[in-house]
Amino acid sequence: MQHVNGVAHRGPVVSVDELECAENSSERMGGDMGNPKYDKEATGLTNDNPNVSWRLTRAAQLLGIEYPIIQAPFGGLPSQHLTATVSNLGGLGSLGAVTLGSSAIKEVIAEIRSLTERHFAINLWVSTSDQGASHISAEAIDQAIQSYASYYAELGIERPSHVEVRSQDFEAQVVSAIDAHAPILSFTFGIPPAEVLSECRKQGIRTIGTATTPEEAVALEDAGLDLIVASGFEGGGHRGSFLRSASDSLIGSISLIPQVVDAVRVPVIAAGGIADARGIAAALALGAEGVQIGTAFLPCVSSGACKPHAAALLSEAAKRTGLTDAFTGRLARGLSNRLMDELEAWNSPPLPFPLQHTVTQTFAGPAALQGKTELMTLWAGQSASLCRCTDATELMTRLIAGTRARLGGIMKGRNKDASNNEKSGRLYRP
Ligand SMILES: Cc1cc2nc3c(=O)[nH]c(=O)nc-3n(C[C@H](O)[C@H](O)[C@H](O)COP(=O)(O)O)c2cc1C
Repeated sequence: MQHVNGVAHRGPVVSVDELECAENSSERMGGDMGNPKYDKEATGLTNDNPNVSWRLTRAAQLLGIEYPIIQAPFGGLPSQHLTATVSNLGGLGSLGAVTLGSSAIKEVIAEIRSLTERHFAINLWVSTSDQGASHISAEAIDQAIQSYASYYAELGIERPSHVEVRSQDFEAQVVSAIDAHAPILSFTFGIPPAEVLSECRKQGIRTIGTATTPEEAVALEDAGLDLIVASGFEGGGHRGSFLRSASDSLIGSISLIPQVVDAVRVPVIAAGGIADARGIAAALALGAEGVQIGTAFLPCVSSGACKPHAAALLSEAAKRTGLTDAFTGRLARGLSNRLMDELEAWNSPPLPFPLQHTVTQTFAGPAALQGKTELMTLWAGQSASLCRCTDATELMTRLIAGTRARLGGIMKGRNKDASNNEKSGRLYRP
């Protein structure tokens, strides 16, 4: 690979078998962190060279990482160790901070910094509470608790006399993350306010938005987000839709990725259903410049998932997932279990988020402590049954080596397309 001023440039062959070239590339790519403009030339994406590496995407360059593989944030299950491990291996570790207050956010950022010198992302939810949530009476909450009486009885626990509903304040969280100089901030459930994005730009903090439809992707790009996650409905956890309802925004990754790629100019990161190198290769072939992988990291010992959750992901139970709003009040995907089936069959609608979550946690939390997976909320995506690894280092190594092994042929075609597109004056997207 040719380096000019520490940056990869067009020129003689870049080997696809380039793992050995990785050592200095984080530094090299990270040199541009303060510059909101990506450098297409430096990524080699304008290159006619048929052997340009799969990993040198604009997303990797913007994020200052070696491999365009992002470990997804897990809101409610943060793990500083998993985040740092993935970053240390050349990917981007993320930490889901939705449940953390301002001072906890500062602490986790400091801890991640003590574990890695590389870039990582802190993830926040722009909307942490549904509109109707503040109008729900104490009686309505009490009624909901009473309706779950059989679960408290089954678990042998007291029915709570009241619950304290708390949701974090996004504004305070984001100020805290910016003050602590998080290298990258990723967002879901909406568009961060203009002043937040402008402050991020000033501080050289890269921003990632989450889109579940092409329209959301355009809105995020128009607002100035640097990169966009295209979140297919196969993915585990919540659907972060914000323009239409989540149930009216369900698009699978194979349809969503190319539509988002066509709709925006900023780099697109594919999320939802990617659990191995085949998924990464497919996402890149569809035009994504990076992937965000969640479920496959959950069974890893360093993840924040509890043991029964991790074990369920590696069991027969991983074969069936479902989308439900009955666990939290917002639509989310998890392993189908008795709790999901029973709550889905309930006649009354769930309480608004986060009230429903707070209430169901009064028995789903104890169920986790007792290892009763049938009454737990087991977040997972549709590729859960592809989970194999319980070690994050092994998983990252497999993802990188597997993608490298698969992508020679695809990259050749892709770079031919690139030169044709350049010639016809169209914007090339890999
Ligand atoms: C347990 C769990 C928690 C999640 N929490 C968040 C979150 O707080 N913020 C977010 O942007 N995405 C969250 N996600 C979604 C992931 O970022 C990612 O898009 C998704 O996991 C990708 O699909 P996959 O699970 O099929 O890999 C979560 C996913 C899971 C499985």
